[in-house]
Amino acid sequence: MVKQRNTVNDLKPYIPGKPIEEVRRELGIDRIVKLASNENPLGSSPAASRVVEEWSKNMAIYPDGNSTDLKEALSEKLGVDPSQLLFGAGVDQVLEIIAQTYINPGDNAIIGYPSFPRYETVVKVMEGELIEVPLTHDYRMDLEGFLQNINDKTKIIWLCNPNNPTGTIITEEEQRNFIQEVPKDILAVLDEAYYEYAIGNHYPDSIKLLDEFDNLIILRTFSKVYGLAGLRIGYAIANKDIIAYLNRVRGPFNTSAAAQLAAIAALEDQKFVKDSVSVNNKGKEYLYSAFEEMDLDYIPTHANFLMVKIGIPSDQVFKALLEKGVIIRSGDIFGMDDWIRVTIGTIDENEIFVQALKEVIKSYKG
Ligand SMILES: Cc1ncc(COP(=O)(O)O)c(C=O)c1O
Repeated sequence: MVKQRNTVNDLKPYIPGKPIEEVRRELGIDRIVKLASNENPLGSSPAASRVVEEWSKNMAIYPDGNSTDLKEALSEKLGVDPSQLLFGAGVDQVLEIIAQTYINPGDNAIIGYPSFPRYETVVKVMEGELIEVPLTHDYRMDLEGFLQNINDKTKIIWLCNPNNPTGTIITEEEQRNFIQEVPKDILAVLDEAYYEYAIGNHYPDSIKLLDEFDNLIILRTFSKVYGLAGLRIGYAIANKDIIAYLNRVRGPFNTSAAAQLAAIAALEDQKFVKDSVSVNNKGKEYLYSAFEEMDLDYIPTHANFLMVKIGIPSDQVFKALLEKGVIIRSGDIFGMDDWIRVTIGTIDENEIFVQALKEVIKSYKG
């Protein structure tokens, strides 16, 4: 047996949301509702499907490694220079590129807990250390705690905004005050994977900060509101020097031509984005009132998922819902043992979930 690197022994494998096909095979259930991976329940823009179909005649050709057309379209939309953008196979890959570019063995990164688990893995792979700062009592990032934990080995601070899994945000004012306090040789990475769901409501306009601070990276994705999770495309926005270093690490053809084309088409279809946000807002209100009626605590969310406290071990709730054809995320993955995380679905999906949850709770609590 070939011996793996020591650091790999410490890594926990990422536990993805259970795929629909797997549940169908295992349980023989036809109607399955997946509310586990914060995907867009409306799918994606039909315009994106059309360009991918057309592209499928050209699969023998390598993609444009510079993503020139997408870069141009996105830079126009965001009001930044094309040299300030870098694309990856999802934000997931951009996280890896950032860690590979900046973390030396023994450096540390500060993260909130619970937060998106991949921050930990990408740092550990580079033999970096993690400093976890627990969320506040109201499940928000403890920014004061972040500052107190900075030491001379700190290289990156990961800010997940809205935070996955809690759906809570760092406000514009909090973020600005925080970044002013962060030493200039530490990178603040603002993961805004759910940006389009969160804008308004005191959510920061982070791009404005790029002119003032040159230690920021903003991350966004086409996986969530744009519904292109299966194609894998996300991006970083930062000053051009940071992007140039990230580009040294990035693989030459790291995003597919299909993903680039679909992203351009998806960007042009802002009606789809608007409709998706509207379905999400309605679903959120429906779920809030269902939870209140059931007397369950939940964390008000700024994203397309929410945490609800069931008061029963979450792995058991997960299994019981699965048997009823509803896939959610068990809170124990995030250290919240009697909570579950549910993605907000269509009206139908939300109703099926609520009905199933009522039955599960009834069977446990009578
Ligand atoms: C906070 C956060 N960041 C990043 C990602 C990864 O997104 P992508 O599909 O772009 O890799 C996710 C996906 O769930 C997420 O929740």
